Amino acid sequence: DHDESYQKDITLAIVKPDAFLAAHVDDIRQEILHAGLQIKAEGEFVLDKASAELFYREHKNRNFFPHLVSFMSSGPVYVMLLSGRDAIKKWRLMIGPTDPEKARKDSPLSIRARFGTDNTRNAVHGSDSHESVLREMGFFFGNYTEESRTPADACQPV
Ligand code: PPS
Repeated sequence: DHDESYQKDITLAIVKPDAFLAAHVDDIRQEILHAGLQIKAEGEFVLDKASAELFYREHKNRNFFPHLVSFMSSGPVYVMLLSGRDAIKKWRLMIGPTDPEKARKDSPLSIRARFGTDNTRNAVHGSDSHESVLREMGFFFGNYTEESRTPADACQPV
């Protein structure tokens, strides 16, 4: 691309255990590609409880934390590193609001509107900032310098 103003970012997408179990990985992958984003790395992972706690540690004092952690470690997830123009914003728009009920009202074509159930079982995750992307991608794909645990310790590729 020759346009100097082109701002290529990266973001992390996770198909959560509910959508994985419902066999939505391929549909979601196709939607990502049709939206003009590239998939730079991807894989299926199973998080253990400690890894899910580490991934979501910013929410550790919230009442929903134990439920979130047990859900995210309840089965396989599919993780994709996305790249493209405004990737963080674009993917967050595609997934819709956290609450699928709200998504069905405000953003009916969004992934959470179509595939989500509630605030916890909401089909997908998207990084919320560039700082989050760096932390979260390292968790699955390497270069994880912030924590003593290596990605290999933190989760098991399937
Ligand atoms: S908040 O309140 O702004 O911090 O919430 P948000 O960043 O949208 O979502 C936090 C993640 O926790 C999951 N989760 C819940 N959020 C809100 N309320 C309840 N009850 C809840 N249960 C679980 C939610 O799905 C978000 O997960 P990610 O993977 O970050 O999207």
